[in-house]
Amino acid sequence: MKGVFITFEGIEGSGKSTQMRLLADSLASLGKDCLLTREPGGPPISERIRDILLDADNHAMLPETEVLLYAASRAQHTGQWIIPALKEGKIVLCDRYYDSTSAYQGAARSLNRDFILPLTDFATFHTVPDLTFLLDLPVEQGLARINSRQLDRLERESVDFHQRVRQEYLELATRHAERFTVLDAALSKQEIHARILDKVLTQLGVCNA
Ligand code: TMP
Repeated sequence: MKGVFITFEGIEGSGKSTQMRLLADSLASLGKDCLLTREPGGPPISERIRDILLDADNHAMLPETEVLLYAASRAQHTGQWIIPALKEGKIVLCDRYYDSTSAYQGAARSLNRDFILPLTDFATFHTVPDLTFLLDLPVEQGLARINSRQLDRLERESVDFHQRVRQEYLELATRHAERFTVLDAALSKQEIHARILDKVLTQLGVCNA
């Protein structure tokens, strides 16, 4: 039995976590068995790595350390949770996956893609999402949505950094059009949810009447 792997990507404040939860609720009401998870994070080891990565006091972290920690968190998460859930036929909903590494460490931190691509293959055991939803939004609007909360290490980066993240996401969506759906994150929550649900039900072969 093979499940379905769905990832959500976007800049800070794009609303991807909200959309993931709305989708999970709709799928649960249809009796679908879902695993909801996130990156960096998931199983306890990966969540501990998340704490190190996002700790705003870790100013000294080098980009090289950062990319390896994201990969370490992903390897544990993919091997311990994602692959077993897919084998059991579950729908896995993941808030961020390796496209975030291309956008943040590849484009925004300017790390070499010739290194990131094989590292990603290694850390994912070659697992590729079936569907990826990109919630796209101008950076200023995304950052304005989050500026009332305590910002983590990555959220504190410059507007220019987040522009590079957004630009790379849009390029990834073009390069991998077979799995990406780009959504205007400025639309209402319900409108975005309806589009996501429609796409997912089509993928699952369920009629959305
Ligand atoms: P979150 O706040 O959406 O949970 O994401 C955590 C932060 O980690 C967010 O700023 C994006 C960043 N990130 C990367 O830089 N590279 C990655 O591979 C992943 C998964 C997240």
